[in-house]
Amino acid sequence: MSPTKENDGGWKKFVWNSEKKEFLGRTGGSWAKITLFYIIFYGCLAGIFIGTIQAMLLTLSNYKPTYQDRVAPPGLSHTPRSDKSEIAFNMNDKSTFEKYIKSMSDLLAKYEEDLQTEDKNFENCGVEPQPYKERGTVESDNGQRKACRFLRSWLGPCSGQDPNYGFQDGKPCLIVKLNRIVNFRPRAPSNDSIPETVASNLKPNMIPIFCKNKRDEDKDKVNEIKYHGMGAGFALQYYPYYGKLLHPQYLQPLVAVQFTNLTLGEELRIECRVFGANIDYSEKDRYQGRFDVKITINS
Ligand SMILES: *[C@@H]1O[C@H](CO)[C@@H](O)[C@H](O)[C@H]1NC(C)=O
Ligand SMILES: *[C@@H]1O[C@H](CO)[C@@H](O)[C@H](O)[C@H]1NC(C)=O
Repeated sequence: MSPTKENDGGWKKFVWNSEKKEFLGRTGGSWAKITLFYIIFYGCLAGIFIGTIQAMLLTLSNYKPTYQDRVAPPGLSHTPRSDKSEIAFNMNDKSTFEKYIKSMSDLLAKYEEDLQTEDKNFENCGVEPQPYKERGTVESDNGQRKACRFLRSWLGPCSGQDPNYGFQDGKPCLIVKLNRIVNFRPRAPSNDSIPETVASNLKPNMIPIFCKNKRDEDKDKVNEIKYHGMGAGFALQYYPYYGKLLHPQYLQPLVAVQFTNLTLGEELRIECRVFGANIDYSEKDRYQGRFDVKITINS
């Protein structure tokens, strides 16, 4: 019993030692000093922390990302897009492709002619591919830049004039765009750097797109592929993009790819690529400058 009692006494004594006037082993003066020390110490840490964040914020621009080396060159994205890049439907059953055509209608809603009437925000940039449309530097403050018009009607059979986007006829459309990168200028490919099949529909001032069967065994099953838009590619007058702040109305150019004679009842793997002098492909990123998609049409 007694040792516990002694211990109890020791513990109490540690909390408050009335002989030496110590609280938890320190005198009042000692506590004041150590408190002051930690206030200054953490104050300095907070100061350094806030200072570095402020200094870093000063180096950032409102108009363009400081580091964008990881994202260039651009990704190529397609609508409809689904998990595992599989598009499978029955052409006689609208419920199987409803979600695909809805995602295309949602995308194209932004390309409605009615939304592009204001000359303050939009301009015509021609109906043929042309060189870059320069609108000043990305940093300068001379206000918002105009956007080139891009009308959904240019996509013809894939514009929504056929509300089923060809799915009902077994001729499905995909809408393709290059992801936007502030201040990026895609460069047209040289004639000898691209496959011959692509060179034949090459236009100047255009980043061509070309789709084909990914696997050799699908060679005779993919058949005709049509491209709708401003030619079979992305016209350069839509670049550069000045960023959300300076270019709020910007519309990415679109290409609609239509598969008009796919073999039915089989899963076909199709790969689409864009070609440009500064567009590369990466082993790691399957969407950089290309994508592939599996399409199965049942009837
Ligand atoms: C590119 O090459 C194709 C043939 O491979 C030719 O028809 C076309 O005129 C060439 N285009 C240019 C811009 O040189
Ligand atoms: C569709 O492709 C098949 C080959 O799979 C071909 O025999 C047929 O002529 C093509 N149809 C059209 C309209 O091009």
